[in-house]
Amino acid sequence: MKKLTLSFITLALAGVSNAAFADTLRMECPISPGGKEYCKYVKDRFEKQTSNKLEFIEFPAASDEKLALLQQLFAAKDEKAVDLFQSDTIWVGLLDKQTLDLTDAVGDMKGDFFPGPWANDTVNGKVKAVPAYLDTGVLYYRKDLLEKYNEQPPKTWEELTRIATKIQEEERKAGHKNFWGMIFQGKSYEGLTCNALEWIDSYGGGTFIDEKGNVTVNNPKAAAALDMVAGWMGKITPKGALGYKEEESRAVFQNGDALFMRNWPYAYLLSQGADSPLKGKVGVAPLPAGPDGKSANALGGWQWSVNANTKNKDAAIALLKILTDADSQKMQLKYLGFAPTRSALYEDKAVLETAPHLTMFKDIFANAVPRPATATKSQYPRVSNAIFNVTFKVLNGSSDGKTAVADLQKRLERVKGKDWH
Ligand code: GLC
Repeated sequence: MKKLTLSFITLALAGVSNAAFADTLRMECPISPGGKEYCKYVKDRFEKQTSNKLEFIEFPAASDEKLALLQQLFAAKDEKAVDLFQSDTIWVGLLDKQTLDLTDAVGDMKGDFFPGPWANDTVNGKVKAVPAYLDTGVLYYRKDLLEKYNEQPPKTWEELTRIATKIQEEERKAGHKNFWGMIFQGKSYEGLTCNALEWIDSYGGGTFIDEKGNVTVNNPKAAAALDMVAGWMGKITPKGALGYKEEESRAVFQNGDALFMRNWPYAYLLSQGADSPLKGKVGVAPLPAGPDGKSANALGGWQWSVNANTKNKDAAIALLKILTDADSQKMQLKYLGFAPTRSALYEDKAVLETAPHLTMFKDIFANAVPRPATATKSQYPRVSNAIFNVTFKVLNGSSDGKTAVADLQKRLERVKGKDWH
């Protein structure tokens, strides 16, 4: 297995000596563009307010690799490594024992947050994390190119395939040789599980495992969804997408080399930045529907969690409160493009002026489809591993939809054993 490591980053702290601080806390600094600016803002507030010092660490970009690293750190009882970190929406329950019970400290903030994510972060009646930002899969498109070729944003995958094929061909004829129709996250990691869920569920093929814990993936609709995507590979989607996570796909899209991209909301504000060649040219929509008219957008999102073994709980809670207040969420939106979890910000005029797309995202969030994390309990990482491995085989041409869903059914039943635990 690849060795996972933490990296420490330093932000300049002009003219202040360490001796002036009571304690040093370590928090995760998001590695997305804008992360350093955002962390500098948090550091300034925290150090001014508490006279403690704040240091930052970076975790791997892939959710599954980050979880593996956190589990290694907890197993090694290396409690100094990190005080505050972000948990993926799928692992709050999994890290229950390793994270601090926040009920008394922040329980009264409940009414300010969207109820879905707050409930997700409440485990056995205890608040175990505070929602940091919301995520859901969405479709990005080039407004300018759809207009140029007299097309509308696609409502179905079939339309998407047709439009992508046509515009790719025309753009290449016009000299844009490395232009592609559709890109997404095709690497074998957690992100591919999200993409696979969206394809399969929109085809009416279900969510791999139903709410009762039954494995349901071996069905013709799920197979057809995977075959559709296999049909894109090398035609409207570059084979290189087999190595893309979120940022690799955004780089291609933002460089102007793709018509459509599946990604999370953060990519919207970044693609509208002053230095982006796509400023003003990007539209965003719910993901297209499958043959029966159903669209499925995967539910994602991240939460601030506190290490149960933090040596300074008071300072950690003070930091948590700063990180999750309305001002920090505004800065997080500004610097990182992350969608707030405080509902009032979606009615805030100033916020909506800079990020009008939030109104649409709010509706998509309400209907987003969760991965089968609750039903599969602590076995979710193995479930997701089987999903992304088998899906990857279809995308790289070494399997087909029918074989893959039968294989995945068997693998998931093997992981389940007698029951999920
Ligand atoms: C986003 C989502 C997260 C998901 C990840 C997959 O970060 O918020 O829930 O697991 O993408 O790559």
